[in-house]
Amino acid sequence: MASLKKKPVFKKSAPKPVVKKELPRKPLTGGQSAQKKENASTAPAAPAKKQIQLLRGMKDILPRDQHYWKAVYEKAQSIAEDFGFDRIDTPVLEDASLFLRGLGKVTDIVEKEMYMFEDRDADKVTLRPENTASIVRAYLQHGMWNQPQPVKLWYWGPMFRHERPQEGRQRQFWQAGFEVLGDPSPVIDAMVIQMTWLLYNEFGVPVTIHINSMGMPDDRTRYKMELVQYYRAHRAEICENCKARLMKNPLRVLDCKEEGCQPVKANAPQIVDYLSNDSRDHFMKVLEYLDELGIPYFLNHTLVRGLDYYTRTVFEVVTSDEEQGSQTALCGGGRYDLLVEELGGKPTPACGVAPGIERLIVQLKKRQLPLPPQRQPQVYVAQLGDLSRRKAMLLFARLRAEGVMADQDFSKGSLKAQLESANAKKIPFAFVIGQKEVQEGTVIMRDMDSGVQETIDFNKAPQILKRKLGIDKSVE
Ligand code: HAM
Repeated sequence: MASLKKKPVFKKSAPKPVVKKELPRKPLTGGQSAQKKENASTAPAAPAKKQIQLLRGMKDILPRDQHYWKAVYEKAQSIAEDFGFDRIDTPVLEDASLFLRGLGKVTDIVEKEMYMFEDRDADKVTLRPENTASIVRAYLQHGMWNQPQPVKLWYWGPMFRHERPQEGRQRQFWQAGFEVLGDPSPVIDAMVIQMTWLLYNEFGVPVTIHINSMGMPDDRTRYKMELVQYYRAHRAEICENCKARLMKNPLRVLDCKEEGCQPVKANAPQIVDYLSNDSRDHFMKVLEYLDELGIPYFLNHTLVRGLDYYTRTVFEVVTSDEEQGSQTALCGGGRYDLLVEELGGKPTPACGVAPGIERLIVQLKKRQLPLPPQRQPQVYVAQLGDLSRRKAMLLFARLRAEGVMADQDFSKGSLKAQLESANAKKIPFAFVIGQKEVQEGTVIMRDMDSGVQETIDFNKAPQILKRKLGIDKSVE
C-alpha cells in the first residue's frame, strides 16, 4: 500500500484571501418572520411520510450487482455477434391477443401468470411474459420474411409473470434470447443449443442439456391418445392436478413433480416412439451435430415445456444444486415451426432459446465464479481550491478524450482526503494541481505506490501518463 507519508505530498502556495459573497436574501416582513419563529417552536413535528416499497416479486438491481449483469450481458452479446445475430428490442407492452394466441390458452402463463389489463383506451394489453411471440410479431410486421433467410435475432430485456416469488423466481425477471426464423434445418437447432452451452460453459457453470422432440401436431395427436389411455389406466395412482391436466392439456402430466405420480410417469409411453420418420430423422440429426461438437446432453423423454408453440426439438439447460439436492432450469428453448403461421404469417420454421439472467447470476454467486476484470481508473485527478479545480476538470476531460480512465472527487477540498480516496481504490497514479501549478502551467504526477513525484507540463500530462502506463510509446 502506498504511504502518504513517504514524501511531502504537495507544497501549498499561500492561500488567497477568501472574499465572501453574500447571496441576496428574500426579505421577510417582520410579521412573517415572527410567525415563522413561533411555528418552529410550537408546531408539532410533521409525521414522517410512509416510504413506498417495491412491489412483491420485483427487484432493484443495485450498483453492487451491476458487474454480474454487465458480465452476463457482454457474454450474451459477444456470443450473439459471433454467430451473426442482429439485436432487436420490442416493447414490454403488447396487444394481449399476441400471447393468448401465441402461447396457448391452456398454459400456466396464460391461465395464471399474465399481467393483463385494459388501458385507458379500453384496449386489452399485456406486459410480455416472454419474448418469442413478440419477435414473431416484429418479424411479420416489418416484413423480415423478405430478407435473406434465416433471420437471426437476439434480445435482452425484462419479462413479467405473476408467479409466487422465491429465489430465482420473480415477477419481473430478465431474459436474453436468440431466435432464428425461416430455416427448418436441424443444424439451426444444434447451433442454438451450442450458443446456449457456450453461455454457461464459458462462465464455468456446470450444466446438463435436457433434450426431447415433441414432433409435429400429427405425431403429438397419436401420442396424446396413448398417453391419456395409459394415465386413465392408472387414475387411482395420480394426483388431482394430473387428472385435471389429462382433460385439459394431457402432455402437461409429464411435468408433474408430485412424488406419488413419479412411478406412473417413469413408465409412461415415450413421445419419441410416436414420431414420424421426418421428425425422427430431424431429431437424430440434431443429436448427431451435438455429438460432433462434443456437447453433452441427456435425452429426457418427459420434457414437454410449458408453452404450446413448440414443435420437434425442445430443450432445457439444467444445473444441480448439491446443497439442496435439487435441479434448476436455467433456460429453455426449442423449435416453433407453426408459430409464425399462427400469428398470421406464411409457414416459417423457427427455433430459439431464452436464458434467464437472474438464475445464471445466482449460479455465478453461489459458485463464486470469476468474472472478467472491470475497468479500473488509471489516474486520480486531485485539486486544491477553485482555480485549480477548473484546470483539473479540463485535465479530466482531456484524459478521457485520450482514452485514459480517470477518477476524481471534485467536490472535495482536502488533498489528504482525495489522495486517500485514490489509495483506497488502488489507482496507480495521481495528478495534483494547486495554485502554483495553475500559475506555472504544470501538474504534479505522483506514483501512488512509491510516492515519487515529478512536475510536468500540463498540456503534455495525458501523453506522459500514457507512456508511463505503457499505452502510448510515441512520446519521449
Ligand atoms: P421459459 O422456459 O418460459 O421459455 O423461460 C426461459 C427461462 O426464463 C427459464 O428457464 C428461466 O431461467 C427464466 N424464467 C422464467 N420465468 C422466470 C421467473 N418467474 N423468474 C425468473 N426467471 C424466470 C421462454 O420464455 C421461451 N420464450 C423460450 C424460447 C425462446 N423458446 C424459443 N425461443
